[in-house]
Amino acid sequence: MRTESSPDDLWWKTGVIYEIYLRSFADSNGDGVGDLEGVCQRLDYLTWLGVDAIWLAPFYPSPMADFGYDVADYCDVDRLFGSLSDFDRLVAEAHQRDLKVIIDWVPNHTSDQHPWFTESRSSRANPKRDWYHWRDGAPDRPPNNWIAAFTKEPAWTWDERTQAWYLHLFLPQQPDLNWTNPKVVDAMHGVLRFWLDQGVDGFRIDVVHAIGKDPALPDFPGDGMSHVMLNSDQGSQRLIRGFRALLDTYPGDRIMVGEVYILDTARVASYCASDQLHLAFNFPPIWTPWTADAWRHQLKATYREFSALDAWPTWVMSNHDHRRHRTRFGSEETARAAAVLLLTQRGTPFLYAGEELGLQDAIVPPDRVADPGGRDGCRAPIPWDATPTHGWPIEPWLPWPPEPERNNVATLQQNPMSILHLYRRLLKARRRSAALQRGEWKWLTSPEGTLAYVREADGDRRAVIINFTDETVSAPLEENWQVEVASNGVDEGKPFAGIVAPYIGLLLGGDSIGT
Ligand code: GLC
Repeated sequence: MRTESSPDDLWWKTGVIYEIYLRSFADSNGDGVGDLEGVCQRLDYLTWLGVDAIWLAPFYPSPMADFGYDVADYCDVDRLFGSLSDFDRLVAEAHQRDLKVIIDWVPNHTSDQHPWFTESRSSRANPKRDWYHWRDGAPDRPPNNWIAAFTKEPAWTWDERTQAWYLHLFLPQQPDLNWTNPKVVDAMHGVLRFWLDQGVDGFRIDVVHAIGKDPALPDFPGDGMSHVMLNSDQGSQRLIRGFRALLDTYPGDRIMVGEVYILDTARVASYCASDQLHLAFNFPPIWTPWTADAWRHQLKATYREFSALDAWPTWVMSNHDHRRHRTRFGSEETARAAAVLLLTQRGTPFLYAGEELGLQDAIVPPDRVADPGGRDGCRAPIPWDATPTHGWPIEPWLPWPPEPERNNVATLQQNPMSILHLYRRLLKARRRSAALQRGEWKWLTSPEGTLAYVREADGDRRAVIINFTDETVSAPLEENWQVEVASNGVDEGKPFAGIVAPYIGLLLGGDSIGT
């Protein structure tokens, strides 16, 4: 274990984590759905790219009502994705390459097919009855006004057999567990131990802020917003402290990154106290348009709230639940500048597989829509090469993202000016710079429509300037800098001339870079 004297050198602070949406990453067995062996076969690509860890979306046995976020067995692998021994091999192969492995853990709800729930719903007297939230009432009046995600219908389903309501913040097929029941806590601690014993380096914890609920389950003054975004109870933080205590009994730096889907950065940061989560996703930036003012605000808020609590931020532009930032921002050049912003922050960046290829969301025709939450577009499969099925044995489960014959790994690998090589250069630059990995972060004065900041650690310095406008700006900086990475790949290694072309992001270093 690392000592207290180097708290900022921990892998999960210095590293960059790469999200793999398993169904869409790489298919080894020709069923059109990605799998664990497929990931194994592509690990060398990830080390070539230069990421430090992978986060695997759920691979557990599941009826797939929410594509694996409805878990029917927490301690096994769905046949669609492989087997436990495939998983072991993946962890071993990843570790051999110095890649950490984080797995998704979904504690707020199970599948309605999980044996815990089938028992719970079988009778009012069943010993597992209280493992979920059951309420009496009239079949035409749900117990409170909470709204479920995706459907925007009541977060309650009436169960005919036992004449009672059960709670689900997501689909009816995803009943919420009752975490006030100590048996649920015990069973779930057992799940964490099972995977820690398999050697995982940590967990991405699905909607972790939602696990604790006000026991009275009161009505919520809301405007039809799904309740999961509103739920925040001390109970969640108490439970998280229990998970943390458990992880801390294991050797190595095992971590938890929580999905705290509350659009309030101060509250998100409060989940990252030293006895709670190591990291939490902070989603306001993912809802932020590509303008200098909007990003100035997000950067300020994040650094203010996280430093106030001595917590370490995370940075995410895209994931499997949101339109990709390439699509949101509307052009590859803005996506490139966004990569410079993302990979030069203080905090842990998360990449979403495919963003390094500049992938846009797929256009999904109505007859191919799969997800009840409308998120198929960002989950389109990764094109690996320019062949007709792009490195997949057969056509995958969702349509391709636009222009797969151009935006695929093999084609972009051959082009040093591609967005893929930009990501690789940024990752490399980050890896060799103490300033970028753990340095302080300070604003530099820069013209309207641009943002500039400097990072510094142990005498190592980097500066960044981003032009959000469609005009060339003159932005003389006080010191002499050299262009280390440019989002368009132009003039790297040359002195910075104080001019930034439209939509360009520049990472600047001192004279000593590259040595
Ligand atoms: C999280 C996941 C999302 C899933 C939901 C319910 O938000 O990221 O994909 O649908 O939780 O588990």
